[in-house]
Amino acid sequence: MTSEARQRRLIPLHPLLLILPAATALAGCDGAQSIMAPGGADARVIARLSWIVFIGGALIFALVMGLTAYAALGREGRRHWVASHGFIIGGGIVFPVVTLTALLIYGMMLTGSVGRSATAPALSIAVTGEQFWWRVRYDTGDGGEAMAGGANEIHLPIGQPVELKLRTSDVIHSFWVPSLGGKLDMIPGQENRMTVTAETPGVYRGQCAEYCGLQHTQMAFYVVAHDPQDFQSWLAAHRSPAAEPATDTAREGRTLFIQAGCGACHAVRGTEARGVVGPDLTHVGARRWIGAGMIENTGAAALAGWIAGAQHIKPGSRMPSFDALEGEQLAAIAAYLESLK
Ligand code: CUA
Repeated sequence: MTSEARQRRLIPLHPLLLILPAATALAGCDGAQSIMAPGGADARVIARLSWIVFIGGALIFALVMGLTAYAALGREGRRHWVASHGFIIGGGIVFPVVTLTALLIYGMMLTGSVGRSATAPALSIAVTGEQFWWRVRYDTGDGGEAMAGGANEIHLPIGQPVELKLRTSDVIHSFWVPSLGGKLDMIPGQENRMTVTAETPGVYRGQCAEYCGLQHTQMAFYVVAHDPQDFQSWLAAHRSPAAEPATDTAREGRTLFIQAGCGACHAVRGTEARGVVGPDLTHVGARRWIGAGMIENTGAAALAGWIAGAQHIKPGSRMPSFDALEGEQLAAIAAYLESLK
């Protein structure tokens, strides 16, 4: 076999090899945290622009590879036009300038309304980035922002624009729910606002998108999009003070919770625990995850694991490991927190 013939046989392997990394990367493009799975109007616009860029980029890549192969292996005497002055200026300068300018103008027109809304938002939610979790407050227009505090879970109604007031209490964080819209930084001393409209009920995952310290990668949250009626009943329940513990163990847990000093950092509305440093725990039993997406809130055992081993599970977070508690005390506190639905 001549070396030229060997080259001809090897060339077709190249596109196949490129599929491997592309397939691996695209495997992450589905599910609860993906721009390819839009659940809102803005996200659909971003997804459309992404597809245009991916498909356009792939076609141009294939064209360039085809021309490269032709320039190297095309029949001698015929392939010289690829090296002509006119073709280099046309394909190397005019084509990219025209294509990229058109893409820029189209992209700006398409995404001009992302993060904004033509109509007044139905609801305003203050989201504050903290190292390394998300403080959430529902502003219902009566100055009651603080009374419905939550953490790491943002509930909103579908079909209505919702304004998010993004702040930080420490360093720069970045708010990003790929299935709902674009990304916006949370900057010290400033309030950035964006409006999102969820269209499909569901649970969407968000993630801090700006490096903010040791647990930046573990700073996740969830957006729960409800039908408007469900949302109103959720909000009414969320604004109510903590439920009275129904069992002896949970009552014992509440006493221990206060005695152990948990209320210095955490609030449980309706009790003497009024701390503001850590997440509000008034309805912690109803949250899906613990520790800003660290462990699934499957019940008392998960909560006990977090209380005793927070620094093992999420080193660098401000929650200490309460590993000096005895097993029964820990179980009682966890039972109390689990009851806070
Ligand atoms: Cu907060 Cu990264």
